[in-house]
This record gives sequence, C-alpha cells and structure tokens, in this order.
Amino acid sequence: MESRDVSMNEPSLPDGSPVSDGSPVSDGSSVSDGRSAGPADRRGLARLDGKVAMVTGAGSGIGSVIARQLAEAGANVALMGRTETALDDVCSAIREDGGRALSTPADIRDPNAVEAAVRRCEDTLGPVDLLVHCAAWARGQVFLCEQTEEEWLRTIDTNLNGAFRICRQVVPGMMRRRSGGIVLISSIAGKRGLPANTAYCASKFGINGLTQALATELGPFGIRVNAVCPGLTRSPGTTDPERYGDDFMASLARHHGPANLDWSRYVRSAIRSTALRRLVEPEEVANQVTFLLSDLSDGITGQAIGVDAGVL
Ligand SMILES: NC(=O)c1ccc[n+]([C@@H]2O[C@H](COP(=O)([O-])OP(=O)(O)OC[C@H]3O[C@@H](n4cnc5c(N)ncnc54)[C@H](OP(=O)(O)O)[C@@H]3O)[C@@H](O)[C@H]2O)c1
Repeated sequence: MESRDVSMNEPSLPDGSPVSDGSPVSDGSSVSDGRSAGPADRRGLARLDGKVAMVTGAGSGIGSVIARQLAEAGANVALMGRTETALDDVCSAIREDGGRALSTPADIRDPNAVEAAVRRCEDTLGPVDLLVHCAAWARGQVFLCEQTEEEWLRTIDTNLNGAFRICRQVVPGMMRRRSGGIVLISSIAGKRGLPANTAYCASKFGINGLTQALATELGPFGIRVNAVCPGLTRSPGTTDPERYGDDFMASLARHHGPANLDWSRYVRSAIRSTALRRLVEPEEVANQVTFLLSDLSDGITGQAIGVDAGVL
C-alpha cells in the first residue's frame, strides 16, 4: 500500500539530485550483498512454538507474509481480514508447510465481528498469546482540502480504531494470564508528516501513541507492545499503480507538482531517498515482527521500530 509513505514529489529528493543520476538504484529485485544471512537463517533463532497468534490484514501483502512467518516459527495462527478466499489461500499455504492456521474473517470496523473472530480463534486454537494488527486502509489519500469526511473516517476507523478494537478483545485475557505480545504495524508515515497523507499519517501517528500508552499499561503484567514502521515495501499497493495511486498522484500533482508526476517516478524517487536505495521486502518486516514477539526481544517495549531501508 502506500505510496504515501514516502517523501513526496520529485523535488523532495534529499540531495536535490535528479532521479536518474546514474547511481545504483535497486527496485528490490536483487538483494544487496551486504546481507549476511537470509531471512530463514535469522528466523531460526526466534521461536514461537505452541503460541496462538492472531494477525489482522493477513490475507494479502505484508500481513500474509507475517502470518506465514509466525507459523514457520511455530505459532498457531488465526488470520483476520474481510476477503475469505484470500484468507483461505494463506491458510492453505501455511498448512501445506506443516503449520496450523485458522481463517477468522471479520471487518475490523465492526466491533461485533471482531469479537466473534477472537472468540472463534479462542474456541479453536486457544487464547490469543500474540497479536499483530496489520489491517489498514490507505486508498483515497489526498490533500486535506480535498479529503472527504467518508475517506478520512474510514482511514482512521480501519487503521487506528481497528487497533483499539482488536486490542480490547485480546488484552483482558493477556492480563489475566500475565503474558502476551502485541505488535501494531505502523509506518514511516507514523513518524513524519507527508503531503496528501493527513488521514493516513494521523492514523499511524495514533498507532505509535497507542503503542507507547498501552506498553505502559501492560508492562507490569509482563505484556510487551511495540510498533513496526515499514518504509515503502514491495506489496501489491506499491507495485500496482492502480491500486492506491490515482487520487493520490492527482492530488500531489495538482498542489505540489510536477504535473507529469506519475507512479513509477514517484516510487523511484522514494527508493532513491532511502539509504539502501531499495524497497523493503515484506519478509524483512515480518522478521522484525517475529523478533518482537519472541523472547529474543524481552527487553523491548513501547518502541516504534523502523524497517525502512534507511529513511533518515
Ligand atoms: N506496503 C507498504 O509500502 C507499507 C509501508 C508502510 C506501512 N505499511 C503498512 O503495512 C500494513 C500492510 O500493508 P500492505 O501494503 O501489505 O497492504 P495490503 O496488501 O492492502 O493489506 C492490507 C490488508 O488489510 C485488510 N483490511 C483492509 N481493510 C480491512 C477491514 N476493514 N477489516 C479487516 N481487514 C481489512 C485487507 O484485507 P481485506 O481487503 O480482505 O479486508 C488487506 O489484507 C498496513 O498496516 C500498512 O499501513 C505498508
């Protein structure tokens, strides 16, 4: 998703240089030699055996990779989203790999549906030990002066209120058991303001605030709460220009220009503005989530950790 997670228009390149200045830029298709080990090697250290994990937004993109990786690390995973076929596909892939997965379809904007999904998970897999809120709405992001009430509310309701709803369902049980782990998927748009992103930024800044406040509430119960803030990540929203880009690009072009700003130029500009000159891979976001849910990160709570290829 999210094109919006990047500093905007062409002139916003930090060094002011043109997009194509000949320096190496990777679209993420090749992996930098700088990585010492593949994701699977590193994951070998973080184990979640026997834990029950619930993942919202698990039917596609980053959420589906997180769900698969948590299962690989030994967790039994409940997958939430609205599109049942997408959830079923990810569940099947997890089962084919020898994992245990349950589809718990729900619209995160509907408190009753969220409650029912959590009950279904508890009845089938057991109490939720680990929660990842990844579901988000990032379409229809435009300048504030053009933003409709409906799109603003939908963005906040899915991204931020959704986090509240799912946390409210699982936190009481975690408090009773005095254990648990929560990761809320935020964004670099939760750390910096970006044009044509007021609703999305507000929702993700809100996620980071929720993370800190909830961490202080739950720390004494042995429950850790962290946020992961991806940069521009290879996912359908990033690689499919029609999925999220139209209104966004038009609004940016209208108010900040250049008039010929298009999706591929925008993404290329965003890639160039990262220290590593590449997109983030969904597996890299999932690696961080798995780490934060494992006991390898026992001393970490209340943090909003960037996985952004170096947006500095
Ligand atoms: N991709 C990036 O570059 C990037 C950068 C920074 C942060 N992020 C964050 O990473 C997360 C995943 O992004 P992504 O790019 O992988 O996006 P994605 O593929 O569009 O995934 C979003 C998921 O949220 C679900 N969802 C949306 N509305 C929902 C609702 N009302 N109830 C339940 N589920 C809902 C969608 O499933 P249904 O439509 O089936 O419900 C979908 O599976 C998001 O939190 C996003 O803000 C992404």
